[in-house]
Amino acid sequence: MTKFPKDFLWGGATAAHQVEGGYKEGGKGLSVSDVYTFDSRLPREQWTDQWHLMTHQQVEEAQDPKSKKYYPKRHGNDFYHHYKEDIALFAEMGFKCYRTSIAWTRIFPNGDELVPNEEGLKFYDNMFDELLKYGIEPVVSLSHYEMPLYLATEYGGWVNRKVIDFYVNFANTVFERYKNKVKYWMTFNEINCVKHHPYVSIGVIEENHPDIEQAKYQGVHHQFVASALATKACHKIIPNSKVGCMISYQLLVPYSCDPDDVQKTVTSQRDSLFFSDVQARGEYPAYTNRMFEEKGVQLEVEIGDEEILSQHPVDYISFSYYMSSAVSAHPEKLEHAEGNLITGGIKNPHLPSSEWGWQVDPKGLRIALNQLYDRYQKPLFIAENGLGAVDEIQKDGSIQDDYRIDYLKQHIEQMKEAIHDGVDLFGYTSWGCIDIVSASTSQMSKRYGFIYVDQDDEGNGTKQRRKKKSFDWYKKVIATNGEEL
Ligand code: BG6
Repeated sequence: MTKFPKDFLWGGATAAHQVEGGYKEGGKGLSVSDVYTFDSRLPREQWTDQWHLMTHQQVEEAQDPKSKKYYPKRHGNDFYHHYKEDIALFAEMGFKCYRTSIAWTRIFPNGDELVPNEEGLKFYDNMFDELLKYGIEPVVSLSHYEMPLYLATEYGGWVNRKVIDFYVNFANTVFERYKNKVKYWMTFNEINCVKHHPYVSIGVIEENHPDIEQAKYQGVHHQFVASALATKACHKIIPNSKVGCMISYQLLVPYSCDPDDVQKTVTSQRDSLFFSDVQARGEYPAYTNRMFEEKGVQLEVEIGDEEILSQHPVDYISFSYYMSSAVSAHPEKLEHAEGNLITGGIKNPHLPSSEWGWQVDPKGLRIALNQLYDRYQKPLFIAENGLGAVDEIQKDGSIQDDYRIDYLKQHIEQMKEAIHDGVDLFGYTSWGCIDIVSASTSQMSKRYGFIYVDQDDEGNGTKQRRKKKSFDWYKKVIATNGEEL
């Protein structure tokens, strides 16, 4: 096949905590993401670190009603109040699908309640109805960096096995409620990113866990079991449903052909693929024995866990793709090799970088698609891809974001190549289709959207929506099913 399949799911993606706002409305509880502050006075290099680390003191301060700090993820871009207008714009672009997440804290504010919050359920009923009115298929993540804060502070997050039951109760509740509205689900967003930011991924505060590696993998084991149980429930409650895993796929390439660089690349790539290996194949791969041995991890696996994993693997593999990174066994010998800001990899001298240091590698997307399809032979879905950039409004009010068009065009071209290679790719949702709060830096000025939102890093602005040049460009891409780029 040399063209996109005719029912290809073109669309855009966001996550509840980065768009919704309305954090005090509809009975919502605080989530782990609601405690991140943004302070533009800090040196820029520390903005990403704020996402990686979270201390007790920070969490306590954030819960203090007297705190004067600004918490951007409590406010998002105010989608909670603008969703009708925003969805109408998505429909104007011709979206076939919209990927977002359900905020667990709208349904179970603390996470351990037995009875769901009706107002929260109603909000998503309204949102899904609005999407379906335009024929836009909802694609829903159950957990996108937003578990209830209470489960983190009172239960110790996912390291505690009890959280499996709370999550499964949440999953069952939303499957029952939305069984006639939502067919495509994802269990955990970027499940492999626990490596970089365990607080927001599994709700652990590192100070409590001197052995953080052990905590990470134990927490993730519980997520695997929860994901498999949710997959089982989803298939039962919604017979035609499709459940996917979701990983962050940063393609790794050896910095040189030195066999040590090549071996280190294989080992490092497995550090990410381990997560989709378990969720797609339903078992821990053989290499994990050595991996855990070297990390000093000893998993507590209960009787029955292995059976649950093997019986309920995911139906499809979804992933985010923003960049690639080089790997060197001897980074100390390299000059100018400082890493991508977010994950600390080695810079590939053949690639340009975004303003945030993310290395742009469209051809890497074709390689990633082929690698994942070769490995799993399951349908693939690109759940995130896009360019975070500073946009400027011109005197005539337009936003000429040709750099974004260029980035997306090059990536879509490579998707087409991969389809030609034989990869079964069924959907693509461009990240942050409307400007949202950045996950890693909590900035608003790191913009990904086709739609501009008038709001600055401190939350000031009218929140007025405005089409960028890329809006009409993406509309044409969808209308021609990827033929005109
Ligand atoms: C992914 C996350 O890591 O990348 C999103 O799933 C996030 O939540 C996206 O927003 C882009 O990252 P950032 O830090 O630029 O917002």
